[in-house]
Amino acid sequence: MVRVCFVTTDGRRCDVTGQPGTRLLELGQAHGMPLEGTCEGQMACSTCHVVIAPDWFDRLPAASDDEEDMLDLAAGVTRTSRLSCQITLTDDLDGIEVRIPGESRDMQGR
Ligand code: FES
Repeated sequence: MVRVCFVTTDGRRCDVTGQPGTRLLELGQAHGMPLEGTCEGQMACSTCHVVIAPDWFDRLPAASDDEEDMLDLAAGVTRTSRLSCQITLTDDLDGIEVRIPGESRDMQGR
């Protein structure tokens, strides 16, 4: 199992585990994280945007050009932003920390 720590918009840490091969988007959704994932991984929305802890960001396979283009449209993007539908859990990612961005479309006033 791969351990993932989600950090919610109010700073709560939520440790969960997932099977290798699971997409980060699906894992987050399964644990109640507010990731809409409207296009279900087609890179046609940016509602699955997450912010990866800097230590972990460099260990992920690089984002494709399409992912970068879509991230440009996401609210609250940072240097270590990724689309969670494009990240698949592997044993190498055991312990990864992932923050849910505060400025998502469905959360007003943050
Ligand atoms: Fe739409 Fe990830 S679910 S881009």
